[in-house]
Amino acid sequence: MRKTSKVLGSADVDQKVSDTSDPAMDRDKIDGILEAAGMAPFHHPSASHHHTMHQSPVPWRVYKLDQSSCLSLMKRLVASGDVTKVPNMLSAAQYLLQVTWLPDEANEASTQGGALFIGTIRNMEHIAAASAMVQSLLLAATDAGMKTYWSSGGPLRSSEAFDYIGISRKELLLGAIFLFPAESKNAEEKPGKMRELRGELSDWSLWCDSPA
Ligand SMILES: Cc1cc2nc3c(=O)[nH]c(=O)nc-3n(C[C@H](O)[C@H](O)[C@H](O)COP(=O)(O)O)c2cc1C
Repeated sequence: MRKTSKVLGSADVDQKVSDTSDPAMDRDKIDGILEAAGMAPFHHPSASHHHTMHQSPVPWRVYKLDQSSCLSLMKRLVASGDVTKVPNMLSAAQYLLQVTWLPDEANEASTQGGALFIGTIRNMEHIAAASAMVQSLLLAATDAGMKTYWSSGGPLRSSEAFDYIGISRKELLLGAIFLFPAESKNAEEKPGKMRELRGELSDWSLWCDSPA
């Protein structure tokens, strides 16, 4: 079953890529998982102003960082004075997948008040489609023996991080997805905070046999 595992390693800037990389998590494996996850349903084509580097109409994009890129990013964050746990997770991660969703074009009036995107049903369905893709990838990665964590991203949402990775600022980060190996040496592991709070099935589902 999928569950959150936050694996925290040492944010030591002198560390090298470890030779304990899990061979079961090579790039082809990750691409296979993404290929399956990319079959998630989507209702509307994304807006054409997003179709510069990649032309797919799906309303998501995935930026893939391997262990070596994770360590470079970790060093950059540490050097910039970052004090979050993100460097520790980058240190333990075998991959980071920066997943964005592609909002429809907004004009200034429609996002007055600092809104990130317009609250249309189309945009809601773009997010829903991208989220279905993320959940599919989490399930497949779990099935393949990896530990996973869907994070809001903290410093990975910043313009600096977007520019460093090469993400268009027109895209919005839906999740920073950490993929960790099944076993990590000298790392601390933490579960998802909300895990035990979801209640029973009957707390959030209802059979509607005799609608009034
Ligand atoms: C969109 C999204 C963003 C999330 N961001 C964070 C985050 O920034 N920090 C965090 O601790 N957990 C984050 N989580 C993970 C949840 O905390 C986790 O799913 C929850 O605690 C339930 O635990 P479980 O995944 O083990 O069932 C996020 C989950 C989602 C869907």
